[in-house]
Amino acid sequence: MKGDTGMGATNICGVIWKNPVTTAAGTFSYRESVKYYDPSALGAITTKGVSPTPWKGNPLPRIAETPAGMLNAVGLENPGVDDYIENELATLKKQGLVVVANVAGHQVEEYCQVAEKLSATDVDMLELNVSCPNVAEGGLAFGTDPKAVAEVVTAVKSRTRKPVIVKLSPNVADVVGIAQAAEAAGADALSLINTLVGMRLDLATGRPILANGTGGLSGPAVKPVAVRMVYQVSRAVGVPVIGMGGIMTGEDAYEFLLAGAVAVAVGTAALLDPAAPARIVRELEAAVEKYGAPRRGA
Ligand SMILES: Cc1cc2nc3c(=O)[nH]c(=O)nc-3n(C[C@H](O)[C@H](O)[C@H](O)COP(=O)(O)O)c2cc1C
Repeated sequence: MKGDTGMGATNICGVIWKNPVTTAAGTFSYRESVKYYDPSALGAITTKGVSPTPWKGNPLPRIAETPAGMLNAVGLENPGVDDYIENELATLKKQGLVVVANVAGHQVEEYCQVAEKLSATDVDMLELNVSCPNVAEGGLAFGTDPKAVAEVVTAVKSRTRKPVIVKLSPNVADVVGIAQAAEAAGADALSLINTLVGMRLDLATGRPILANGTGGLSGPAVKPVAVRMVYQVSRAVGVPVIGMGGIMTGEDAYEFLLAGAVAVAVGTAALLDPAAPARIVRELEAAVEKYGAPRRGA
């Protein structure tokens, strides 16, 4: 089967992905990607954060380069859930793709409104972004407090029958505690990591380069942090874990599967090389052939 990594299809909360590779939220555009690869080569497509109403995002500049990654402070700019359903989701589902919708909100009720609207569509799974470092209210404010995570997960679960993946932040002292709170509140799966809060300064002005002040660090620089967190979390919970953070090659993806992830997401790599997600599927196949089916270490 095209896109088969040699590990067969992956069943995540009852949803069948033909291989364990998806896109990381906020880094995939259907219109751009089809110029470089066939998105049906991936196990699933995860789309960018969608909120109940359109969000403008943060002022420019929103991106700064770093030696082994990038800082972004996009601030979840999006056209709102109604537009998402009518346009992006409709386009992706017409192609027969498995779609994971990344859900954003400022308050619990906003996450619920989006989840409820998506519940009535053919979207396959929801991913709750309780970990965005770039919005003033909501986002990371939920993801760093186990009680707040539990509250938003419980509320969303009561308003949707779709499987709910909870996306965790690395900007915490105890990621396992947050993961267990999400699982206890009913999360069907967990994904991690979102970006790490960082900053760069302009040497001439002494001021932050990003208009938002801080931004989220992603790319190869964060991979060891992500692998460590996936390793810890996957041993502490019973639900499936989707790993991401700095995956640039199939061998990087294989490392996350060894750490305990059942699937992986490719983000920043696709901003450098638009064909990266499909390339990583092929390279993961080669890694499985070379090293054998990933067996999680002790
Ligand atoms: C430009 C950009 C936009 C992002 N937008 C979202 C988003 O909408 N929702 C979300 O949960 N994560 C978002 N993220 C985080 C990524 O999905 C991913 O968790 C993170 O970048 C780490 O993976 P990577 O190093 O492969 O990029 C974004 C990241 C980038 C670089």
